[in-house]
Amino acid sequence: MEQDEGPAAVAGAGAGRRSTGYLLLTVDAPVEAREAVAALLHELPTGGLIEEEGAAGLVRLRAYLRAEAAGGRLRELRRRLAALPSLGLGTVTPELRLEEAAEEAWATAWRAHFHAFPAGRRLWVVPTWERPDLPAGAVPILLDPGMAFGSGLHPSTQLCLQLLEEHLEPGCIVADVGTGSGILAVAAAKLGAACVLAVDHDPLAVEVARANVAHNEVQHTVDVVVGDLLDPLEAPVDLILANLTAEVVITLVPRIVPRLRPGGRAILSGIADVREAEVLRAIDQAGLRLLQAIGAGEWRALLVAAAGP
Ligand SMILES: C[S@@+](CC[C@H](N)C(=O)[O-])C[C@H]1O[C@@H](n2cnc3c(N)ncnc32)[C@H](O)[C@@H]1O
Repeated sequence: MEQDEGPAAVAGAGAGRRSTGYLLLTVDAPVEAREAVAALLHELPTGGLIEEEGAAGLVRLRAYLRAEAAGGRLRELRRRLAALPSLGLGTVTPELRLEEAAEEAWATAWRAHFHAFPAGRRLWVVPTWERPDLPAGAVPILLDPGMAFGSGLHPSTQLCLQLLEEHLEPGCIVADVGTGSGILAVAAAKLGAACVLAVDHDPLAVEVARANVAHNEVQHTVDVVVGDLLDPLEAPVDLILANLTAEVVITLVPRIVPRLRPGGRAILSGIADVREAEVLRAIDQAGLRLLQAIGAGEWRALLVAAAGP
């Protein structure tokens, strides 16, 4: 069996220093491949990406990743980076380097690049360590994504926030499947949901999401639990939020109809455009109908409801 690429494969690991448990990934890529490389790195559970200018014609993307979460993902990342030139994205393969993150650096380095930004008509993502002046009527989501996915910078999250702002009805009951940093659950609570159950199968994400729920003082509305997809739900809900991947969305859709109250809806995101047709087929087969589709770059988000009579 092929060995997974992990902390042991990282230069400098175990060289007498106390392990930080985090890896620093650096990718030097041709500028034409920037979007594609960023999308690949966004699929990893990093806190966020740091983008710097590289040598001539190159861009440098860096991210911190929990070593134990790296597993076989790095081998897959290398494989997909190697395929980019054949897709016409640059003439050279982006170079990936791994090193053990220096003590404390992983926790703070990307923070310098993470500032408050608008994420919809009224929603603003605001780092917990910033106190910016926001426009009147702004709804702030205070966030420290740490090493969970969900800084709000990824288009798949922004598409969800957009649909959430448009369709959430005050007083509704919401399930956020794959909550990551808890960003969507907090947004739902702040937009007026009566009750939100946030689920993630990664205990670290649950820890981060609980801290963000506390930062926003929405503990009375949002409960965060470890679990698989919709399993922890005890009763049907009005709105399901699911920013996952196309593959996981396809696993989820057959379970949605029984978990929706009459008139309920689901927002499905994290769907790369090349997988959209496949997801739409699964939606149709699961007795759901498409109400709205929106996109940003190569990402799609879908609003669906039970097909009904
Ligand atoms: C793309 S992130 C989305 C984070 C956040 N909701 C957002 O919109 O930015 C997907 C999250 O789903 C979680 N996840 C993936 N598969 C899952 C499953 N089967 N059950 C529960 N959570 C899952 C991952 O751990 C990750 O935190």
